[in-house]
Amino acid sequence: KRIALKFTLNGEPVETAAPAGASLTRVLRDTLYRTETKIGCEAGRCGACMVLMNRKPINSCLVMAWQVEGSEIITGSGLEALAVTGTVRQALAEESAFQCGYCAPGFVISLVALLTENPKATRDDLMTALEGNICRCTGYHSILRGAELAAT
Ligand code: FES
Repeated sequence: KRIALKFTLNGEPVETAAPAGASLTRVLRDTLYRTETKIGCEAGRCGACMVLMNRKPINSCLVMAWQVEGSEIITGSGLEALAVTGTVRQALAEESAFQCGYCAPGFVISLVALLTENPKATRDDLMTALEGNICRCTGYHSILRGAELAAT
């Protein structure tokens, strides 16, 4: 069974239909072909699928399609709408934070959400905000250095 869905995606209205049991990750990737949202565990543990839902970072693999109705979704491709995004991306690049980059959209979304609320976040704040994001390549030191640079 498919359900009708209306929501806002990166500032644009979306009307679509998706399987009733689909996750938001699957709606984004399989129905709307927005593959900037990545899939890792599909169990809420890795953060690869993170998006902003009503400006809060969430694991889209844990949100069911019907829960998206009427909401505002921002993926890694829509983050320019938030003022701190350029600072976050530049700081992470300066610190060579990522290697393969697969986890990067999730990390950037977590940092943009935090620094929008709290531009002077401490190292502890940053570590707490990133605890749901897993990186398998670089470890976390370069990512944290980039996060701290973005917060200064
Ligand atoms: Fe959603 Fe891992 S794919 S948290």
